[in-house]
Amino acid sequence: MSQRPLVTARDLEGDDPVIPAGAILTPLARDLLRKRGVTPRVVGEAGGAVDPLVVANWKSHKTLGEARAFAARLRDGLARGRARVVICPPFTALACLAEALAGAAELGAQDLSPHGEGAHTGEVAARHLVDVGCRFVIVGHSERRHAGEEDALVRRKLRAALGAGLGPILCVGETAEERRAGRAEAVVSRQLEEALAGLEPARLAATVVAYEPRWAIGAGVTPTPAEVEAMLSHVRRALGRVAEAAAAARVPVLYGGSVNARNARELLSLPTCGGALVGGASLDPDALAAIAAGAER
Ligand code: PGA
Repeated sequence: MSQRPLVTARDLEGDDPVIPAGAILTPLARDLLRKRGVTPRVVGEAGGAVDPLVVANWKSHKTLGEARAFAARLRDGLARGRARVVICPPFTALACLAEALAGAAELGAQDLSPHGEGAHTGEVAARHLVDVGCRFVIVGHSERRHAGEEDALVRRKLRAALGAGLGPILCVGETAEERRAGRAEAVVSRQLEEALAGLEPARLAATVVAYEPRWAIGAGVTPTPAEVEAMLSHVRRALGRVAEAAAAARVPVLYGGSVNARNARELLSLPTCGGALVGGASLDPDALAAIAAGAER
């Protein structure tokens, strides 16, 4: 069965229709475009991804020299498998990695401005990320939420990313306290709803969601596989409520939080798991290559 996203005439309503990369248009959708004389914009590369995604979040680590050495080692170590590997370095290393990775892995950023280009000192706009070779951008990472970023801002950043053709990787997840209080599912539902409600189906299909329990990030502990599976299934159900079912079904849902070369295979082989968002372990090219190998199914 084809896993490529299907775009219907309804998805193309509006002045600026967008379709996910690799989409198949229904005959009615094609007719509609012909009649309107409109060429839809192709957004993101994530939409309809069936291959596991392994996203490396370097956070605030690595100089240019270190990034180059990493890329050389990763190029040697990465098996030509099905997993798509995305490196998200600090902004300063993006241009250098675009060259040094030489196609061995894709490029993403860790954050972006909610604004377009303009008088916004210190901000990096989506357009600049596209320009430097990014295909993805992390949005709403828990470390940014912890620093005060609220759902409304996450929503604006997600839209800025999609508007420029980037695939946003939307992070959601509960704190330890919220989990203890039995609120994990409600918190994750709210974060998804606030970020994604009202998004056109084609744009939703270009989005990736990463479930990252905040208490597992950088902590060396993960939920049990059964707990991860339960939350990833919850994310799937919640996506089905905020968006049209067909588009929601195309969104890859990743797990993140203390993924390493030892636990990756088990976590990544869970039926609902579309890949991993990896922090600390992704700084070591050998560990990242081993995680990507564990993602092969
Ligand atoms: P970690 O970080 O793998 O070091 O827990 C994950 C993340 O912050 O995305």
